[in-house]
Amino acid sequence: FADFKSHLLEVQKRAASFYYYQLWQDDGKQGLSYLRNRKLSDETIKKFGLGYSPKYSGNLYKFLKSKGYSDEILKESGLFHVDERRGMQDKFWNRVMFPIMDVNNRVIGFGGRVMGDAKPKYLNSPETKIFDKSRNLYGLNLARTARKPYLIVCEGYMDVIAMHQAGFQNAVASLGTALTSGHASLMSRYAKEALLTYDSDEAGQKAALRGIPILKAAGIRPRVVNLAPYKDPDEFIKAEGKEAFEKRLMEAENAFLFEVRILGKEYDLSDPEGKTAFFREVSRKLLEFPEELERNNYMESLCEIYRIKFEDLRKMVNHMALSG
Ligand code: GTP
Ligand code: MN
Ligand code: MN
Ligand code: MN
Ligand code: MN
Repeated sequence: FADFKSHLLEVQKRAASFYYYQLWQDDGKQGLSYLRNRKLSDETIKKFGLGYSPKYSGNLYKFLKSKGYSDEILKESGLFHVDERRGMQDKFWNRVMFPIMDVNNRVIGFGGRVMGDAKPKYLNSPETKIFDKSRNLYGLNLARTARKPYLIVCEGYMDVIAMHQAGFQNAVASLGTALTSGHASLMSRYAKEALLTYDSDEAGQKAALRGIPILKAAGIRPRVVNLAPYKDPDEFIKAEGKEAFEKRLMEAENAFLFEVRILGKEYDLSDPEGKTAFFREVSRKLLEFPEELERNNYMESLCEIYRIKFEDLRKMVNHMALSG
């Protein structure tokens, strides 16, 4: 079985070299100019081993067969789908390819992006015996060597790469899935703090809300970065540059205050009744902090932000504590 796994790893590595080679051939021109248009330098393209899967299917299959791999192993690689009539078909074609590495720099799968607006925008390798999406993070192989006290957590391949190119080498992304406790425990080996740079759209903000308790449970302190008015780190850096991005990282919002701010959107805070109902909910959340000092610190911040009296908030929290 160990032998089977090492063969699967070999196949991924061969596939990565194949895609990488294709990018620099005539057929790969479109892929190369796509990546260059997205402002990736050749150095970055090489560093991440980006590639191109050719337009006409069957190329990778032929290549790997010529290297002597059996259909049995190729079926398990996640790089093909088996067509009843036509046999083994390359899963990826006419896409720019992002090899996914584990922390030991071994290729374990791929993401592939269309070069236009077709759907699906990204196609990812399925989970295989060597690719567990809930236990790997894109970019962690590089981020771990950055030795920063925090990791920057984002949504996508392009975000990780754009941040890396701008000098933020501690960026990682989950692989087209939500953040899991497996991801969080993996992260906790390398950093005690996480700056969340999820997309500024609603889906991204929801992902941040879901990620916060998962990170906390793994002993990581999360904070949330505001990217507005841009959609994601890649777009932010392209528009505003790395100094402005660094500034946003430094201004990252405390996770609890972020949660409260998002909760506030569900209430009419200009209405006394709405504001009271909101603070009932906030008081309940405040009780989740067992330490009085920490709770008081949050209460002071909230009083400043929402312009209420500390004494009023304290009474409400105490009342909640008694009434449960
Ligand atoms: P760009 O448009 O290339 O900048 O990508 P993005 O990372 O900004 O895309 P988006 O915010 O839409 O998605 C974030 C991540 O979710 C991607 O990097 C993928 O890993 C994943 N993803 C996006 N679209 C799809 C899809 O159509 N299918 C699957 N399986 N995953 C997707
Ligand atoms: Mn899994
Ligand atoms: Mn998104
Ligand atoms: Mn993007
Ligand atoms: Mn995005």
